[in-house]
Formats: sequence, C-alpha cells, structure tokens
Amino acid sequence: TGAQIGVTGLAVMGRNLARNLARHGFTVALHNRSPERTRRLVAEHGDEGTFVPSESLADFVNSLERPRAVIVMVKAGGPTDAVIDELVPLLDAGDIVVDCGNAHFDDTRRREVALREQGLHFVGTGVSGGEEGALLGPSIMPGGSTESYAKLGPMFESIAAQVDGVPCCVHVGPDGAGHFVKMVHNGIEYADMQLIAEAYDLLRSGLSASPAEIAEIFRTWNSGELESFLIEITADVLAHTDATGQPFVDVVLDRAEQKGTGRWTVQSALDLGIPITGIAEATFARSLSGHADQRTAAARAFPDTPGWQVADRDVFVEDVRKALLASKIVAYAQGFDHVQAGSQEYGWQIDRGAVASIWRGGCIIRARFLDRIREAYDDQPDLPTLLVAPYFAKAIGDGVPSWRRVVADAARAGVPTPAFSSSLAYFDALRRDRLPAALIQGLRDNFGAHTYQRVDRPGSFHTLWAGDRSELAG
Ligand code: 6PG
Repeated sequence: TGAQIGVTGLAVMGRNLARNLARHGFTVALHNRSPERTRRLVAEHGDEGTFVPSESLADFVNSLERPRAVIVMVKAGGPTDAVIDELVPLLDAGDIVVDCGNAHFDDTRRREVALREQGLHFVGTGVSGGEEGALLGPSIMPGGSTESYAKLGPMFESIAAQVDGVPCCVHVGPDGAGHFVKMVHNGIEYADMQLIAEAYDLLRSGLSASPAEIAEIFRTWNSGELESFLIEITADVLAHTDATGQPFVDVVLDRAEQKGTGRWTVQSALDLGIPITGIAEATFARSLSGHADQRTAAARAFPDTPGWQVADRDVFVEDVRKALLASKIVAYAQGFDHVQAGSQEYGWQIDRGAVASIWRGGCIIRARFLDRIREAYDDQPDLPTLLVAPYFAKAIGDGVPSWRRVVADAARAGVPTPAFSSSLAYFDALRRDRLPAALIQGLRDNFGAHTYQRVDRPGSFHTLWAGDRSELAG
C-alpha cells in the first residue's frame, strides 16, 4: 500500500501542509524539485508522522496509493502549469491533482477541463491561514468534482481548523469554485485591512494617541462584535516597538504591496457587474500608497491640513468602532454578493452559508460575526443583501449616526477614509428611493440615442432631442 496523499513543492506552505497531514495520521509522499528541501523536512520533522520521500517525480507518483492524490504547492501561473505538465503523463485515469496555491479561478477552470479530458480530476483548492494555518489548521476551500472530494474530503476536513467541532472545509463547488471563493476571501481581507487602517489613522489623528494607546483600543474592541483575527493582530502590530525605540508602525515604509488577488477580485466583479466598492477602494488605496512621486508633489502643493477638534474622546472612539463595524458589514455583504454572482455565472451552486461557516476559523478573515453571516444565509438562502438580515440591519441601524459623524468629521479634518466613506455611500445609494441614474439615462439618450425605460409604462423609448422633443417608443 502506498502513501494516501502526496505533496510536491515543499516551500513553507507545502511543507506545513505535508506536516499537518502527517500529524493527523496520513501517510504523506514528499517531493521537491531540489531534493534538499525534502531531506530537510524528513530530518527535521520525520518523527511527526509517516513520510515517503522521493527524489524523482516518477518515484513520488509510484509511491502513492490509487486513485492518487497529489497536492501541487508551487508558485501560481507558469510554475504550476510546468509541474502539471510533468505530472500528467505519470498519472492514471481517476487520479487527482490538487492545486493549493492562490491560482486565478480562470486558470483553474482551464486546467480542470484539460485534465478532465485526460481522465484526471483537477481540484483547485483555496487554502487560507498563512504558514501557521497550513500547519495548525487552515480554512480549506476545494473546488473540483464530487468524486475527488470523496477521497480528499476526509483528509482535508481532518487537517482543517475546527470551530465548535465543525471543520473549516467544505466542497465549495465544481471546477474553479474553490479558487473563486478564495479570491473573494482575499478581496474581503483587503477591505478589512483597509478599514482597520483607516480606523487607526482616525484614532491617531483625532486623539493624538500613540500606537501603543491605539493598540489598547483595538484590544478592547476584540472582545466585542468586532472580535476577529485581524483586529487581534492589529493590536499586536501597533503595540510593537522597533529596535530603534520607535513604534514599529512608524518605521515601516507606508506603501502597501499586493500579490494580485485583490486586483483579481475587483476585475472579476467588474466583469460580473457587482459593486464591491469597499474591496475596490481598498485595492486602489494600496496602489495610491505606492505612488510616491505623486504623493510628494501633492503634499508640497497642498501642505495645509485642517486637523481635528475631537470634543469627547470616548464618544469618538465609540463612533469609530461603530463606523468600522458598519463598513465591515458592507464589505462582507459585497463579497458574498460577488460569490453569488460567480456561482450563477459559472453554474457552481455555491452555498453561501457554508462558505461563511468555513471562514469562521483558520483563515485570515476569521471573525466572530461570520457565525451571524452563516445564520443569515442558512435562514434565507436567497437573501437579497446581507445588510437586511436582522442582526446586520440592527448593527447598521445602530451605527448610522456614528458612521455619518466619522465620515463627515474625517472629510472636514482632511483625513482620507476611502473605504469608510464609500461604504457609507453604498449603503445610502442602496436604500435610496430614487437614484440620479435616471438623469444618466437621459444624458445617454440625448447624446447617443441609447434609449431609456419609463416608470409608468413598459417598453424602451427615445426622445428626439434635436428635433421636436417628441418621444418614440421602440
Ligand atoms: C491567506 C492570505 C494569503 C495571501 C496574503 C498576501 O488567506 O492566507 O490571503 O493567501 O497571499 O494575505 O496577499 P497580498 O500580498 O495580496 O496582500
């Protein structure tokens, strides 16, 4: 009998996934392009379980029980294709190739079709939780066929994070569904972090507080509705003092980088016509932070900052907390809308309650209120927007006055809050009885005869703007 699962690509994520599997009693075949990494894993952690190391890919494949399950954990894009191309001729019908990297879901769909034509299963799997998650319990989002999940499910569910005895792993849907959901997870991660960063900036300028003092505020917030991994580590990062004696956050260059999953999320949402404004603002805020020359030029041209007059510190802190919660709800609502749109477009039948459930633990955006999101979608699978689910409607209703004060005060003080303010604008737009979109339709008809619909009768219409302004029904 051979190994139950194999991992090729033993950089930190692959290595930790392999160790996690072995620690849970699975026999794990190991392979890495340079055998040094394989040897090191066995030397350092061989006692954690049963590993079957191989130096060649052929030996690695032969060491696996059938149907084989091979996790590919190499860089997304070209390197993943290269490994798959090498692997495929060595496999037999019914074998399963699992890509646990951050692949684009379109690549996953393409690869799934190509491998299916060869009688193989290809399972694009989102894995969240960073290095530590991979080792101690990540959130796992597998796509691919139902047959492949029959083999992978028990292994993945056993190594995943567990919340209230429920594993943070579910078969998300066919082909690219898993990587799509992981992509949206990352988009929400961007929005969440941007909102936290804006809250920090507001507190710092509004209260003239030190990062260590703000760390305490975040620590307090982490024991309430905002409880989440990202709030927890925010307190950690803000409280950290650099070797120079300065707050760590003050010695880090203020240009946020990205590997691309946030950008993919926004691109996909544009294609699907889903307004994920919070995620988009967060992604653009990172881009803006990187435009150093423009920032320097603008700072020189407009040096004056109005500044703050915070009347009551406690009220302000509570306002920022409520604004953060409301904006965060908007970001998640938009992300779940995006999941639904992708599911419809690609025929995935994704259960949003199940997605919320597997994000409760292990992943970067794990948060107490994901339980409430799960409840909301379980109670009403066709919920039009998360904003109207009772728990969230109440949180937003309670937060609206604070939200408005924070956004208005920030605008007056010259503190940029792109994610806070665009989330508020999204909320106000969504609930508005009449939007000025009617005027846009009029303009489109005026300059381009693009036609419009009327509120009082069906059909499409065009006004003869350059003529006698009579209306034609189309
Ligand atoms: C996770 C993370 C991870 C992501 C990093 C960096 O779920 O474990 O989302 O997959 O790669 O957070 O992303 P950026 O470099 O784009 O910020």
